[in-house]
Amino acid sequence: MAKDYQELLDLLDLQKLPKHVGIIMDGNGRWAKQRRRPRLYGHRQGAKSVRSNVELGVELGLKYITYYAFSTENWNRPEDEVKGLLKLLKEHLIKEIPNLNKQNIVLKLLGSEQGLDKGYLNEINDMARQTHRNNGMQVNIAFNYGGRLEIVEAIKKLSPKEIAELSPESFGDHLWTAGIPDPDLIIRTSGEMRLSNFLLWQSAYSEFYVTNTLWPDFDKKEMLKALLNYQSRTRKFGGIA
Ligand code: FPP
Repeated sequence: MAKDYQELLDLLDLQKLPKHVGIIMDGNGRWAKQRRRPRLYGHRQGAKSVRSNVELGVELGLKYITYYAFSTENWNRPEDEVKGLLKLLKEHLIKEIPNLNKQNIVLKLLGSEQGLDKGYLNEINDMARQTHRNNGMQVNIAFNYGGRLEIVEAIKKLSPKEIAELSPESFGDHLWTAGIPDPDLIIRTSGEMRLSNFLLWQSAYSEFYVTNTLWPDFDKKEMLKALLNYQSRTRKFGGIA
């Protein structure tokens, strides 16, 4: 028989949680299509999943969650979907900043400024800044994010001396994710098994969890299942168990 939420929660070892979970929120479009609704309806429902997922993160005591909300390749979608996604992020932040502050959450935006309107950027950056005195869980929103661009941009900013002294350990300090530990677990919804340019450098030793559940249906119970699956893995980081 399928386990209920409390049973799953009881099985979870709170001492062995991943420090950082990255989430590729896929399947909003298919979720909407199944209901004969526009794709943006699916994205709006997806934003509600983000809310409950963040809530669970706080309840469990997760340290970092990174949500892949808009990739550098998502500009290739139809103009009204792109505009809708930009508007959805801004509206969601306006609504959520008071809740994030109440829950002591730090919000960070990870991504490029390329292609985004100055006024829009100022607004979303100002909102994120309003949470920067908090010291609880950190929610990163990968927005206008691309792993390849992140790496190339980091290299372009280095001086010849810095390049000569570069090491695999120090390179991360130049990425948008500087100061954030690498993700221990990367979750992708909707059954697709690819990274899609998400945290390329940082995911070298991440554990992957793919579920067929579409992102708008990815509720707290689904997140517990992903975390339990993670806890069943043996991480070797190239060594032996
Ligand atoms: C992928 O599903 C989803 C996206 C590209 C957008 C994700 C955005 C949100 C969940 C809402 C806003 C986020 C925040 C943090 C408030 P898809 O459209 O590729 O789905 P499909 O593969 O079924 O078409």
